[in-house]
Amino acid sequence: MRGIILAGGSGTRLRPLTSVQSKQLLPVYDKPMIYYPLSVLMQAGIREILVISGPEHVETYRTLLGDGSRLGIRIEYTVQDAPRGIAEALVLGAPFTDGEDICLVLGDNIFYGHRLPDMLREETERVDGCTLFGYPVSDPERYGVATVDDDGTIVTLEEKPAQPASNLAVTGLYMYEAEAVERAARLTPSARGELEITDLNLTYVREGRARLVNLGRGSAWFDTGTHDSLLEAAMFVQVLEKRQGIRISCVEEVAYRMGYVGKEQLTLLGKELSASSSYGRYVMELAGTS
Ligand code: G1P
Repeated sequence: MRGIILAGGSGTRLRPLTSVQSKQLLPVYDKPMIYYPLSVLMQAGIREILVISGPEHVETYRTLLGDGSRLGIRIEYTVQDAPRGIAEALVLGAPFTDGEDICLVLGDNIFYGHRLPDMLREETERVDGCTLFGYPVSDPERYGVATVDDDGTIVTLEEKPAQPASNLAVTGLYMYEAEAVERAARLTPSARGELEITDLNLTYVREGRARLVNLGRGSAWFDTGTHDSLLEAAMFVQVLEKRQGIRISCVEEVAYRMGYVGKEQLTLLGKELSASSSYGRYVMELAGTS
Protein backbone atom coordinates (compact mmCIF):
# COMPACT_ATOMS: atom_id res chain seq x y z
CA MET A 1 0.00 0.00 0.00
CA ARG A 2 1.24 3.50 -0.85
CA GLY A 3 0.32 6.68 0.96
CA ILE A 4 -0.85 10.07 -0.22
CA ILE A 5 -1.00 13.18 1.95
CA LEU A 6 -3.14 15.92 0.47
CA ALA A 7 -1.78 19.21 1.71
CA GLY A 8 -3.56 21.43 -0.80
CA GLY A 9 -6.48 23.84 -0.60
CA SER A 10 -6.39 27.57 -0.10
CA GLY A 11 -7.06 27.53 3.65
CA THR A 12 -9.47 30.44 3.30
CA ARG A 13 -11.13 29.76 6.64
CA LEU A 14 -7.83 30.28 8.45
CA ARG A 15 -6.74 33.55 6.84
CA PRO A 16 -4.64 35.55 7.59
CA LEU A 17 -2.71 32.58 9.04
CA THR A 18 -2.77 31.04 5.60
CA SER A 19 -2.35 34.19 3.51
CA VAL A 20 1.27 33.32 2.73
CA GLN A 21 1.69 29.97 4.45
CA SER A 22 0.33 26.54 3.55
CA LYS A 23 -2.26 25.48 6.10
CA GLN A 24 -0.68 22.07 6.67
CA LEU A 25 2.61 23.70 7.70
CA LEU A 26 1.02 25.72 10.49
CA PRO A 27 2.19 24.75 13.97
CA VAL A 28 0.16 22.38 16.06
CA TYR A 29 1.89 23.01 19.37
CA ASP A 30 5.45 21.76 18.77
CA LYS A 31 5.51 20.53 15.19
CA PRO A 32 4.18 21.34 11.73
CA MET A 33 0.68 20.04 11.11
CA ILE A 34 1.78 17.63 8.36
CA TYR A 35 3.84 15.62 10.87
CA TYR A 36 0.60 14.26 12.31
CA PRO A 37 -0.80 12.64 9.14
CA LEU A 38 2.72 11.64 8.10
CA SER A 39 3.18 9.75 11.36
CA VAL A 40 -0.19 8.04 10.84
CA LEU A 41 0.97 6.64 7.49
CA MET A 42 4.36 5.64 8.89
CA GLN A 43 2.71 3.86 11.84
CA ALA A 44 0.46 2.01 9.40
CA GLY A 45 3.66 0.56 7.94
CA ILE A 46 3.52 2.69 4.78
CA ARG A 47 6.97 3.82 3.65
CA GLU A 48 6.23 5.20 0.19
CA ILE A 49 4.42 8.48 0.45
CA LEU A 50 3.36 11.19 -1.99
CA VAL A 51 2.78 14.74 -0.75
CA ILE A 52 0.41 16.80 -2.89
CA SER A 53 0.29 20.56 -2.47
CA GLY A 54 -0.30 23.78 -4.38
CA PRO A 55 2.38 25.18 -6.74
CA GLU A 56 3.33 27.99 -4.33
CA HIS A 57 4.00 25.64 -1.40
CA VAL A 58 5.27 22.33 -2.71
CA GLU A 59 8.92 23.38 -2.52
CA THR A 60 8.55 24.26 1.16
CA TYR A 61 7.36 20.73 1.85
CA ARG A 62 10.33 19.39 -0.06
CA THR A 63 12.66 21.56 2.04
CA LEU A 64 11.05 20.30 5.24
CA LEU A 65 10.81 16.58 4.45
CA GLY A 66 13.23 16.00 1.58
CA ASP A 67 13.13 12.62 -0.12
CA GLY A 68 12.24 10.95 3.17
CA SER A 69 15.50 8.99 3.36
CA ARG A 70 16.42 10.68 6.65
CA LEU A 71 13.37 8.93 8.11
CA GLY A 72 13.97 5.67 6.27
CA ILE A 73 11.04 6.24 3.93
CA ARG A 74 10.49 7.54 0.39
CA ILE A 75 8.66 10.81 -0.16
CA GLU A 76 7.76 12.31 -3.53
CA TYR A 77 5.88 15.47 -4.41
CA THR A 78 3.17 16.43 -6.87
CA VAL A 79 1.45 19.74 -7.52
CA GLN A 80 -2.31 20.24 -7.44
CA ASP A 81 -2.53 23.49 -9.39
CA ALA A 82 -6.01 24.42 -8.15
CA PRO A 83 -8.19 23.08 -5.33
CA ARG A 84 -10.18 20.64 -7.45
CA GLY A 85 -11.25 18.31 -4.69
CA ILE A 86 -9.95 15.56 -2.46
CA ALA A 87 -10.73 12.78 -4.95
CA GLU A 88 -8.41 14.43 -7.48
CA ALA A 89 -5.52 13.40 -5.23
CA LEU A 90 -6.00 9.81 -6.39
CA VAL A 91 -5.84 10.86 -10.04
CA LEU A 92 -2.78 13.07 -9.51
CA GLY A 93 -1.19 10.31 -7.47
CA ALA A 94 -1.71 7.57 -10.06
CA PRO A 95 1.85 7.59 -11.48
CA PHE A 96 3.16 7.27 -7.92
CA THR A 97 0.74 4.67 -6.57
CA ASP A 98 1.27 2.69 -9.77
CA GLY A 99 -1.40 0.03 -9.33
CA GLU A 100 -0.92 -0.47 -5.57
CA ASP A 101 -3.61 -0.03 -2.93
CA ILE A 102 -3.77 3.49 -1.57
CA CYS A 103 -4.08 5.14 1.82
CA LEU A 104 -5.09 8.77 1.48
CA VAL A 105 -4.91 11.12 4.44
CA LEU A 106 -5.80 14.78 4.60
CA GLY A 107 -2.88 16.91 5.71
CA ASP A 108 -5.00 18.79 8.24
CA ASN A 109 -6.38 15.78 10.12
CA ILE A 110 -4.89 14.81 13.47
CA PHE A 111 -5.36 11.34 14.89
CA TYR A 112 -4.26 9.99 18.21
CA GLY A 113 -4.98 6.65 19.83
CA HIS A 114 -3.09 4.03 21.68
CA ARG A 115 -4.44 1.18 19.50
CA LEU A 116 -4.40 3.15 16.28
CA PRO A 117 -1.10 1.92 14.78
CA ASP A 118 -2.00 -1.78 15.19
CA MET A 119 -5.49 -1.21 13.93
CA LEU A 120 -4.30 0.67 10.85
CA ARG A 121 -1.72 -2.00 10.05
CA GLU A 122 -4.47 -4.64 10.15
CA GLU A 123 -6.70 -2.57 7.90
CA THR A 124 -4.01 -2.06 5.27
CA GLU A 125 -4.02 -5.84 4.78
CA ARG A 126 -7.69 -6.24 4.04
CA VAL A 127 -9.03 -3.46 1.86
CA ASP A 128 -11.83 -4.56 -0.43
CA GLY A 129 -13.38 -1.53 -2.13
CA CYS A 130 -12.80 1.19 0.42
CA THR A 131 -12.30 1.45 4.15
CA LEU A 132 -13.27 4.66 5.91
CA PHE A 133 -12.65 5.64 9.51
CA GLY A 134 -15.48 7.11 11.54
CA TYR A 135 -15.46 9.14 14.70
CA PRO A 136 -18.46 10.08 16.86
CA VAL A 137 -18.81 13.87 17.06
CA SER A 138 -21.28 16.38 18.46
CA ASP A 139 -21.40 18.41 15.21
CA PRO A 140 -21.72 15.81 12.39
CA GLU A 141 -23.25 18.35 9.98
CA ARG A 142 -19.71 19.73 9.40
CA TYR A 143 -18.49 16.44 7.91
CA GLY A 144 -19.26 13.43 5.78
CA VAL A 145 -21.72 11.36 7.83
CA ALA A 146 -22.22 7.58 7.65
CA THR A 147 -24.58 4.97 8.98
CA VAL A 148 -23.46 1.35 9.14
CA ASP A 149 -24.95 -2.10 9.60
CA ASP A 150 -23.81 -4.55 12.29
CA ASP A 151 -20.80 -5.66 10.21
CA GLY A 152 -19.54 -2.13 9.67
CA THR A 153 -20.70 -2.02 6.04
CA ILE A 154 -21.72 1.53 5.22
CA VAL A 155 -25.45 1.84 4.48
CA THR A 156 -25.76 5.59 3.96
CA LEU A 157 -23.18 8.29 3.39
CA GLU A 158 -23.86 12.00 3.01
CA GLU A 159 -21.60 15.03 2.73
CA LYS A 160 -22.38 17.74 5.28
CA PRO A 161 -26.07 16.84 5.67
CA ALA A 162 -28.39 19.45 7.22
CA GLN A 163 -30.04 16.62 9.12
CA PRO A 164 -27.37 14.03 9.92
CA ALA A 165 -28.58 10.42 10.05
CA SER A 166 -26.00 9.62 12.75
CA ASN A 167 -23.26 11.25 14.82
CA LEU A 168 -20.58 9.28 12.98
CA ALA A 169 -18.30 11.67 11.07
CA VAL A 170 -16.14 10.30 8.27
CA THR A 171 -12.57 11.34 9.04
CA GLY A 172 -9.99 12.34 6.46
CA LEU A 173 -8.31 8.94 6.33
CA TYR A 174 -9.26 6.60 3.50
CA MET A 175 -7.99 3.26 2.22
CA TYR A 176 -8.73 2.17 -1.33
CA GLU A 177 -8.06 -0.72 -3.61
CA ALA A 178 -5.99 0.35 -6.62
CA GLU A 179 -9.00 0.51 -8.92
CA ALA A 180 -10.31 3.61 -7.08
CA VAL A 181 -8.03 5.71 -9.29
CA GLU A 182 -10.15 4.95 -12.37
CA ARG A 183 -13.33 5.64 -10.44
CA ALA A 184 -11.98 9.00 -9.27
CA ALA A 185 -11.06 9.91 -12.84
CA ARG A 186 -14.64 9.19 -13.97
CA LEU A 187 -16.30 11.43 -11.35
CA THR A 188 -18.01 14.60 -12.50
CA PRO A 189 -17.18 17.77 -10.58
CA SER A 190 -19.77 18.90 -8.03
CA ALA A 191 -21.56 22.26 -8.02
CA ARG A 192 -18.47 23.79 -6.34
CA GLY A 193 -16.28 22.43 -9.15
CA GLU A 194 -14.56 19.72 -7.10
CA LEU A 195 -14.13 15.94 -7.39
CA GLU A 196 -15.83 15.02 -4.13
CA ILE A 197 -14.39 12.22 -2.05
CA THR A 198 -17.89 11.37 -0.84
CA ASP A 199 -19.01 10.80 -4.47
CA LEU A 200 -16.15 8.35 -4.92
CA ASN A 201 -16.98 6.59 -1.66
CA LEU A 202 -20.65 6.38 -2.65
CA THR A 203 -19.73 4.25 -5.68
CA TYR A 204 -18.48 1.64 -3.20
CA VAL A 205 -21.40 2.13 -0.81
CA ARG A 206 -23.80 1.28 -3.65
CA GLU A 207 -21.90 -1.98 -4.22
CA GLY A 208 -21.83 -2.84 -0.50
CA ARG A 209 -18.02 -2.59 -0.59
CA ALA A 210 -17.48 0.36 1.70
CA ARG A 211 -16.53 -0.47 5.26
CA LEU A 212 -16.33 1.90 8.17
CA VAL A 213 -14.06 1.34 11.12
CA ASN A 214 -15.25 3.31 14.12
CA LEU A 215 -12.27 4.86 15.88
CA GLY A 216 -14.48 5.18 18.91
CA ARG A 217 -14.17 7.02 22.17
CA GLY A 218 -10.75 5.62 23.02
CA SER A 219 -9.09 7.81 20.42
CA ALA A 220 -8.96 11.44 19.40
CA TRP A 221 -9.56 13.02 16.03
CA PHE A 222 -9.27 16.68 15.22
CA ASP A 223 -9.66 18.58 12.04
CA THR A 224 -8.01 21.95 12.08
CA GLY A 225 -10.30 23.87 9.78
CA THR A 226 -11.07 26.82 12.04
CA HIS A 227 -9.06 29.01 14.39
CA ASP A 228 -10.74 27.36 17.35
CA SER A 229 -10.24 23.78 16.21
CA LEU A 230 -6.59 24.54 15.43
CA LEU A 231 -6.05 25.87 18.95
CA GLU A 232 -7.99 23.00 20.52
CA ALA A 233 -5.84 20.44 18.69
CA ALA A 234 -2.68 22.23 19.86
CA MET A 235 -3.90 22.30 23.46
CA PHE A 236 -4.74 18.60 23.33
CA VAL A 237 -1.23 17.81 22.16
CA GLN A 238 0.31 20.09 24.77
CA VAL A 239 -1.68 18.58 27.67
CA LEU A 240 -0.90 15.03 26.65
CA GLU A 241 2.78 15.63 26.00
CA LYS A 242 3.43 17.63 29.17
CA ARG A 243 1.55 15.23 31.41
CA GLN A 244 3.23 12.09 30.06
CA GLY A 245 6.62 13.54 29.15
CA ILE A 246 6.32 12.11 25.65
CA ARG A 247 5.88 13.55 22.17
CA ILE A 248 3.12 12.37 19.93
CA SER A 249 3.49 12.14 16.15
CA CYS A 250 7.21 12.79 16.44
CA VAL A 251 8.17 11.45 13.02
CA GLU A 252 11.77 10.83 14.09
CA GLU A 253 10.57 8.66 16.99
CA VAL A 254 8.08 6.82 14.78
CA ALA A 255 10.83 6.11 12.23
CA TYR A 256 12.98 4.67 15.01
CA ARG A 257 10.26 2.62 16.72
CA MET A 258 9.07 1.24 13.39
CA GLY A 259 12.63 0.14 12.60
CA TYR A 260 12.95 2.46 9.59
CA VAL A 261 16.10 4.04 11.04
CA GLY A 262 18.63 2.91 13.61
CA LYS A 263 20.10 4.65 16.62
CA GLU A 264 22.90 6.27 14.67
CA GLN A 265 20.51 7.99 12.31
CA LEU A 266 18.25 8.98 15.21
CA THR A 267 21.25 10.63 16.84
CA LEU A 268 21.93 12.59 13.66
CA LEU A 269 18.28 13.64 13.41
CA GLY A 270 18.36 14.85 17.02
CA LYS A 271 21.53 16.87 16.42
CA GLU A 272 20.06 18.46 13.32
CA LEU A 273 17.03 19.50 15.34
CA SER A 274 19.39 21.12 17.88
CA ALA A 275 19.75 20.68 21.61
CA SER A 276 18.34 24.15 22.07
CA SER A 277 14.91 22.84 21.06
CA SER A 278 13.06 20.71 23.63
CA TYR A 279 11.84 18.64 20.67
CA GLY A 280 15.43 18.13 19.56
CA ARG A 281 16.47 17.14 23.08
CA TYR A 282 13.63 14.62 23.18
CA VAL A 283 14.93 12.96 20.01
CA MET A 284 18.47 12.96 21.39
CA GLU A 285 17.28 11.38 24.63
CA LEU A 286 15.58 8.64 22.64
CA ALA A 287 18.87 7.97 20.92
CA GLY A 288 20.57 7.98 24.31
CA THR A 289 22.87 10.83 23.38
CA SER A 290 21.70 13.80 25.41
C1 G1P B 1 -13.64 16.77 3.95
C2 G1P B 1 -14.59 15.67 3.45
C3 G1P B 1 -15.52 15.24 4.59
C4 G1P B 1 -14.70 14.80 5.80
C5 G1P B 1 -13.71 15.90 6.20
C6 G1P B 1 -12.75 15.41 7.26
O1 G1P B 1 -14.36 17.92 4.23
O2 G1P B 1 -15.31 16.16 2.34
O3 G1P B 1 -16.33 14.17 4.16
O4 G1P B 1 -15.58 14.51 6.86
O5 G1P B 1 -12.91 16.32 5.08
O6 G1P B 1 -11.85 16.40 7.68
P1 G1P B 1 -13.67 19.41 4.17
O7 G1P B 1 -12.87 19.53 5.43
O8 G1P B 1 -12.84 19.44 2.94
O9 G1P B 1 -14.83 20.36 4.15
